[in-house]
Parts: sequence; structure tokens; C-alpha cells
Amino acid sequence: MNDLLLEATDISKAFGGLKALSNVNVSQRRGELLGMIGPNGSGKSTFVNVISGTLKPDSGEILLDGANIARRPQHVVARAGIARTFQAVKIFDNLTVLENVLAGALGHSSMGTKEVDEAREALARVGLTADLEQRAGALGLYDRRRLEFASRLISRPKLLMLDEPVGGLNPEEIRAMIGLIQSLREECGIFIIEHTMKVITSLADRVVVLVNGKKLVDDSPQTVLRHREVIDIYLGTGDA
Ligand SMILES: Nc1ncnc2c1ncn2[C@@H]1O[C@H](COP(=O)(O)OP(=O)(O)OP(=O)(O)O)[C@@H](O)[C@H]1O
Ligand SMILES: [Mg+2]
Repeated sequence: MNDLLLEATDISKAFGGLKALSNVNVSQRRGELLGMIGPNGSGKSTFVNVISGTLKPDSGEILLDGANIARRPQHVVARAGIARTFQAVKIFDNLTVLENVLAGALGHSSMGTKEVDEAREALARVGLTADLEQRAGALGLYDRRRLEFASRLISRPKLLMLDEPVGGLNPEEIRAMIGLIQSLREECGIFIIEHTMKVITSLADRVVVLVNGKKLVDDSPQTVLRHREVIDIYLGTGDA
């Protein structure tokens, strides 16, 4: 069996004259939690957009579990097993909590008992105890994030890509989110973009650093955080 869950090779993406990603290579082993850091505008979200099929790369190959998913439409990539969350939470405010989770169930147009049970189970996995019939727009930020997670987990992804999952959360919520992400490792591969170093050092087995769309380093969190340029970038901007 292939040891690699994700193998992205030579990924490039430009927006007009701006090279958002230049020949980026990222691989993720099965069972490994991979972190990605980098200054604002360094191409992190673009990387997730390209891997998850939201954007097509200009060049490069992407294998998920050995299957080629590069340049496939987003719904095909989702069915292949990649789920992602957004830097700014994307849920349907006017739908209920239950309807939001059901909306993430790929290929299920019905709302049978089986789907509702799966939705309840996904909500239990993220610890969201809100009333199923509550309007999602009424939830606070942490609950909105957890709801977004549940709506992805119901599709049983092989790889869950999280784009800054603790942005805007308070310290207590950040601790809870770290515990939640840790618990999700048992069910799928996790890729996480974060600016909060505590999240990276608590969770990531390996960290990729992007700077100006290029990979600067790819190593253990301890080694990456001792890297001279990384120190300059993070201490220099106060981002850490
Ligand atoms: N759809 C788009 N059209 C044009 N330019 C874009 C688009 N998406 C991203 N960019 C540009 O590409 C560069 C990389 O953006 P990206 O959002 O990937 O950065 P990021 O590392 O996620 O930053 P942040 O930490 O602020 O979230 C930026 O200069 C951004 O303005
Ligand atoms: Mg981003």
C-alpha cells in the first residue's frame, strides 16, 4: 500500500502576473498531521484551493491515495475524499444546524433516517450539542466552525484540510479546538494552515513553510521554528 495519502508535485498557480504558487511540492503520509505556515499572501489558501479543486493549477500533479485528482472538478475531488473548511466559515446561515450537516452529505439528496442519524453522529464527533432545528446563523463563531467541520465529516473524507481553524477564537476555544482536531486524527488525514504557533506546535508532525508562493522549509515543528528566516518572518511581523 502507498504510504502517501497526498502527493502534490510541482504545483504552480498564477493570478495574472502574480505567482501565488511556484513549483510547490508537498506530500503527506498516512496518519501524519501536516501543518502549513507562512506570511499573509504567501499562497497557503491558494494551495488548499488548488488541492481541493476550487482552483485549477497551471501545472503540477496531485495524487490522493494514489489517484490523480489534479484539474478535476471540485465535486469529483470531494468524492475522491478531500474535504476542506474555509478561512471565513462557510455555512448556510438560514438553514438549521441539521440541514447544514445534511448539505455536506455527498450524493444524498434525500433526508432519510439514515442521513439524519449520520448527521447526528457527525455533530456528536465535533461535540456540538446545539438544537438540531436551530438556525445556524444564530450560533457563535466556535459553534459555526464545529458545524462546518461536521458538514465535512459526514462525507467521511480521507483528507480534511483546515484553513486557519482557530482564527477569531478566544484562548479557551483555541484549547478546545486543538483537542477536537487531535481527536479527528483517528478518522482522517488532517492538513492545517495556521498562524497560531501554539496550534502548530501542539498538533503538527511536520510543517511546510510557504513564502511568496515558494516552499522555504519542510520539517518538524521544532526544526522549522529554529529556522533563521522563519524566525525573522514571524518575530519580525509579530504574527506568531
Ligand atoms: N482568486 C484570486 N484572484 C486573484 N488573486 C488572488 C486570488 N486568490 C489569491 N490571490 C492572491 O494570491 C496571493 C496568495 O493568496 P492566498 O490567499 O493564497 O494567501 P494566504 O497565504 O492564504 O494568506 P493569508 O495568511 O492572508 O490567508 C495573494 O497575493 C492574493 O492576493
Ligand atoms: Mg489564507
